[in-house]
Amino acid sequence: MPAMKVKGQAFRSIWFDADRDAVRVIDQRALPHEFRLATLESLDDFVTAIRDMWVRGAPLIGATAAWGLARQMRRDPADAALARASESLAATRPTAVNLAWALAAMTEQLAPLAPVQRAAAAAGAAAAICEADVRINRAIGEHGLALFRQLTAVPGRTASATACPRPLNLLTHCNAGWLATVDWGTATAPIYLAQAAGLPLHVWVDETRPRNQGAALTCWELDGAGVDHTLVVDNAGGHLMQHGQVDLVIVGADRVTANGDVCNKIGTYLKALAARDNGLPFYVAVPTSTIDWSLADGLADIPIEVRHGHEVTTLSGRAASGEITTIALTPPGTAAHNPAFDVTPARLVTGLITEYGVVEASAAGLADLRRRIR
Ligand code: MRU
Repeated sequence: MPAMKVKGQAFRSIWFDADRDAVRVIDQRALPHEFRLATLESLDDFVTAIRDMWVRGAPLIGATAAWGLARQMRRDPADAALARASESLAATRPTAVNLAWALAAMTEQLAPLAPVQRAAAAAGAAAAICEADVRINRAIGEHGLALFRQLTAVPGRTASATACPRPLNLLTHCNAGWLATVDWGTATAPIYLAQAAGLPLHVWVDETRPRNQGAALTCWELDGAGVDHTLVVDNAGGHLMQHGQVDLVIVGADRVTANGDVCNKIGTYLKALAARDNGLPFYVAVPTSTIDWSLADGLADIPIEVRHGHEVTTLSGRAASGEITTIALTPPGTAAHNPAFDVTPARLVTGLITEYGVVEASAAGLADLRRRIR
């Protein structure tokens, strides 16, 4: 049963629609102005949806790729088709490791089977990845909520919903919400559970230029869930922290290396630096599928997606006329560089909130987690 609702109706970001015999997703390019669904059928549809960011966010990219592979197995379940489909899906976006993780998990299950068995097995495996994502995010939410309760219980605060002197002030960057996963979100799962538990909180939402996932998506999500939030420009976080207006930074991740380095949306690193300078906790909510155990140095090893410069030189949104439009911000021909992600070194991360609990962002902390998973 989906936990998140849109105008009172339960929705996930991706689901299999048995009546249409097709996979459906929320087309996130249209948000927050229009709630539009898209139907994905061919392998090309799935490739386009991930590459052109109809769907985005590390766990959702993985889930979409899994369904893409599953649907392709109905058309052609041969070994060569399995390999080709996996390659084209893997090539859509470089940074979030959940994509490669989901494709590897699917291939591991499908490759030993006879081709005739693959379509049914692949649909089951893709559905299982989606169900697991929901359970995992809910577990991240429970662990994060426990942390929030600890923070509200410090002197001068109280965990009681009625007597809290002021809400817990969180700051988040980008969208690590239910739109970025199958349901609940990673960084937002504890927020939604805290809201349900009556824990007073307020979220500062970084707009997250250039694609504005914070302004467009996180604000839309939090608004839909009735969570108190305020949009700020990306450069405001340090100032808010200096003035005691932030208690905790919580973000998601696209890839975490085995030494605890965290790759997330561009600008995350600056928030971590500001949090450290102000003695504030900086937490990363992350499913273990986002941990790349093969890499030991985030700065050196994680491929950073560099997107088109027009995302920087232009701005898209709804004009006063109601029309969705794109406007130019710069003199014509301005050169723009647009790295989409950055790496926050493990030393700046207070902890990783995983489905197994809060883990130290260090080689030792992650090695211990890996032993628990096995
Ligand atoms: O480029 P996007 O929109 O796919 O990037 C998404 C993010 O950076 C999220 O914050 C991150 O994937 C965490 S997802 C739970």
